Order: sequence, then C-alpha cells, then structure tokens
Amino acid sequence: MADISAEEIFEEFREHSIAEFFKKNRQMLGYSGMVRSLVTVVHEYVTNSLDATEEAGILPDIYVAVTQIADSRYKVHVMDNGPGIPRNFIGKALATILAGTKFHRYVQLRGQQGIGAAGCTLFAQITTGKPILVKSGTGKGKAYTCHVAINTAGNKPLITGIAEVDENFRGLSVEGEFAEVKYEKSEHGIYEYLKRTALSNPHAQIKFKDPTGEEFVFLRSVDRMPPTPKPVKAHPLGLGVNDLLEFAHVSQSRKISSFLVDTFTRVTSNKVAELKEIAKSVDFDREPKQLQWHEAEELIKAIRQVKWIAPDASAIIPIGEAQVKVTLKNILNPEFMSVVERKPKVFRGGIPFIIEAAVAWGGNSGYKTESGYTGSILRYANRVPLLFDAGNCAITEAAKEIQWKRYNIDFENQAVSVFVNLSSVHIPYAGVGKEAISKEPEIIEEIKLAIMDAARGVQNYVRGKQTVNFETGRYKSTMRYAKPLAQDLSYLSGAEQKEIEKDLEKLVAKHYPHIKNAKVAEETSGESGSPAEGAEE
Ligand SMILES: Nc1ncnc2c1ncn2[C@@H]1O[C@H](COP(=O)(O)OP(=O)(O)OP(=O)(O)O)[C@@H](O)[C@H]1O
Ligand SMILES: [Mg+2]
Repeated sequence: MADISAEEIFEEFREHSIAEFFKKNRQMLGYSGMVRSLVTVVHEYVTNSLDATEEAGILPDIYVAVTQIADSRYKVHVMDNGPGIPRNFIGKALATILAGTKFHRYVQLRGQQGIGAAGCTLFAQITTGKPILVKSGTGKGKAYTCHVAINTAGNKPLITGIAEVDENFRGLSVEGEFAEVKYEKSEHGIYEYLKRTALSNPHAQIKFKDPTGEEFVFLRSVDRMPPTPKPVKAHPLGLGVNDLLEFAHVSQSRKISSFLVDTFTRVTSNKVAELKEIAKSVDFDREPKQLQWHEAEELIKAIRQVKWIAPDASAIIPIGEAQVKVTLKNILNPEFMSVVERKPKVFRGGIPFIIEAAVAWGGNSGYKTESGYTGSILRYANRVPLLFDAGNCAITEAAKEIQWKRYNIDFENQAVSVFVNLSSVHIPYAGVGKEAISKEPEIIEEIKLAIMDAARGVQNYVRGKQTVNFETGRYKSTMRYAKPLAQDLSYLSGAEQKEIEKDLEKLVAKHYPHIKNAKVAEETSGESGSPAEGAEE
C-alpha cells in the first residue's frame, strides 16, 4: 500500500457549522419517520407558544392547522397570542441554531436549547426548499411579516420580503411546508399530542384543524395562569469544570470570591472562606475572567467537599394532584387511580426536580391487545407529552424495574396505565430531539418510589374489590335460604315474615362488613377512598 501523508489527508479538512451538522443528522432533532417528523414540527412550535405566553403572563390561545398539499407533503400553520418576537431578533430566533432566550437560564420552561424553531426552518428547507412565512406583532400598532430560511454554511438567518402590515395582530404566526411527512390519527399522532398537551396545560385553549378540514377545540378549563416560572441560580453541586469556567468568563464580578457569591445559589462569604481553606492554590482575589482550567478543577473538587444547603425548589411548578386526576380521567376514564406528588429532590448534586406519578386501573387504561390488555406508560416532562423514544427514557426504565406482582398488578396483561411528569429547571433530555429523559440514577430512583407509592393505592383498591366480590358471593348464597326460612319461622311463631326477613338480612350482613362499607362509599360519593370516586374527582 502506498503511504498517504498527513498533508494529503488533511487536504480534506473542513470546518462545518452546527446547521450543516443537523442538516446531515436531522434524525437527532426528531426528524426521522414520516409521522414522527410532522409531530415534531407541531411539538416545537406549540411548546414555544406555551413558553412565550407563560413568560408574558398571557392565557394561551393556540391555533394549529395541518393541510395536505400532495402525497407526503403538508403545510403546518401555528399561531399564538403571545408577545411575538421583536423584528431585530426574528432571524436569530427562528433561523439560527443554538440561539434563544432559554439556553443560558435555569428556568422551568419547555424549551431549553435554542434549536427547536430553527430546526423546523431547516427541515422545511431541506425537504421542500421553501422558507417559513412569519407574522409577528405586539397587538399595538403594526405587525410585520417576512420569510425566514437558514444559510446553513454559516448558521446565519436569511430574511426576505420583510414588510409591515396594518394589523392589530398580537403573537407569532409561523407557516411552513414540509415533505417526507405523513399525518396519522394514532397514539403517536398530532391529535393525540395536542390533546395530551391541552390536558396538562388546562390554562391553554388549543384549536386544531386536521387535514380533512375538521376542527377540534380543546377548551380552556382553568382561567388562571399557572405561576410564572422564575429563573433560579445554579447550585454549585450541579456544576462541572467546564460550566464553572463558562460562568466565570462571562462574569462582570471583580473577584473570583464575589463571582461565586453573585452567580450561584447557597454560596455565602462563609462558604467562600471554607473553599479558600481547601482550594489553596486558587487566588480568590483575581478576576473571574482569568480563571484557568486547573483552578476551576480545584474549585470543583473543593465544592464537592463542602456541605451545602440543598437548592431552592420553590421555582419548580408541578401539574398538581387535582389537575393530574382531571387529566387522567379525560384520557383514560379509569375505574380507579392513585396519584402521588413527591417532595423536591436533586440530581447531579445540584439540579432540583419534582416527580408526579399515578397508576390508573381499568376503564380505558392500558393498551388493547388481541388477547386482552397490556400496561401503558404516559410520559411528561414539564407538562410536555413525550410520545417517542420510550425505550431510551428514564420513565420507561423506572416502570420496567417495578416488581408489579408485589402490588397484585400484572402489568403485561392488565388494563393499567402509569403516568409520570418530571418538572425541573433543567430536563436532562437523552437527545436533542427531546423525546426521552436521560437515565440519571437519582431520577430513576425517584420515579420508582413515586410509582410504587401510587401502585400501593391501586393494590388496596383491587384487594378491597376482591374481598367485596368474595363476600358478595357468600352473602348472596346465604340469603337464598333467608326467604324460605323466614316463611317457616313466620308460620311457626306467627310473626310478620317481612320483619323476620329483615332481621335475617341484618344478621347475615354482620358477617360481611366489606359489602356494607362498599355500599356506604357508593352512596356517599364525595368522600375520599371510594372506588368510583377515584375516577370521579
Ligand atoms: N411563539 C413564540 N413567541 C415568542 N418567542 C418565540 C416563539 N417561538 C420562539 N421564540 C423565541 O425564539 C427562541 C428560539 O426558539 P427555539 O424553539 O429554537 O429554542 P428554545 O425554545 O429556546 O429551545 P428548544 O430548542 O429546547 O426548543 C426562543 O428561545 C424564544 O426566545
Ligand atoms: Mg423551543
């Protein structure tokens, strides 16, 4: 074989932009499979609309229309009533990958990477060659429209035809044409996605026009905004060396010591003094901009040796037990459900999160199979339904690790559904496509505990139901003898047959207390713990 020199090989050396990278690897953004690709477009736009309205304190009104243009070619139109995007940011926001208002903040929003909307622009461009039509307005005075595309070589926006329109429009409207996609009304389709989104965001009103022209309205059921998510400072234990350097290099603080106090939560001057004792070679009086890798390494080591107060979890907003119940009733209408909200916990040392879980039993829970039923899992992260990549997800993993038999549940063969929502200021997604939560041990453990807690509730219900069934059978067969016996006793004693029958009934019922309890629970629906009521609330 002839020797090939490094110079010859390196003639091929090129640098590529992130947009070029995703153009080649669109599956990483969720653009793989025709049905999934179309759901991804809707998912990216709708999560952005929910985030934007939530941050602006506006009750969201979102319109989604999907129109078929040709075989495997559809138009998607998403419009919201949010704050819109200022004209000078439109290119960066919708046509620059890794640009946005969320990536650099710890705040509980649905988006976090600055990739979603530009990913849609890129996908439209590589499948149809067409730009995205945008309209944005603040509701005051004029709105503007334009077309946006991406110059992929430089990851730079291409804006054309920008014009003012005389419309009192408030919000953002995006319209794009996408090919290699397909609309399907299935468990993994847009209708299901929007329905589940509406259910976990009861303050939102979502209108959907499907490709047949049929319109669906998921009505707003709560007129109150959920609490506005507040940005929180990072906790020192959640940092890696690189994170610390990045924070330090953009810091305006004069000294490393004040940088630590200003930038991170739970760092006081006392804590800095403790760090100084451990990280002896770091000069805390130097400018944070001068912080070197080896010093950051030493600081991180020191941080891990100091005792810290856990991060503040008050900025985390779960869906809430009552709403989870309404949501599950609407999706599954189960015979019984048990809902659990766990206390805040921390992963990677410093990122707080809250798990909500439920186990629903009977009704439309589980999946129908040819031979009966099998269990299903409903996954949510910050109220966003996750429909794909189940196998890669911490929620699936946790549910798989549960020993269901312990709870008298046959997950493989019964109509059971598990629901889990993870809320956090930073969801550790398994990929940029944001369809699965990465398998962080602390998160899996916490999900398992939550599911087990909920499963116990179902177990008690099923056990109770089995006892009631058993006693009812016994009671009925015993009572078969009550009438002839009452007749004979009445004949012998001369007492009223009906009275004797009543007394016998009472006597027998005493031996089967669970039937009585079940009856009372049925009659007084509204008290907690009754079977029907589990689904009714
Ligand atoms: N409907 C909208 N209304 C107002 N601003 C929006 C809207 N959609 C997008 N933006 C702005 O554009 C930015 C980029 O959106 P994009 O979806 O690419 O990223 P992201 O939502 O920040 O993160 P992710 O990649 O996780 O979705 C957002 O951060 C936001 O500032
Ligand atoms: Mg987004």
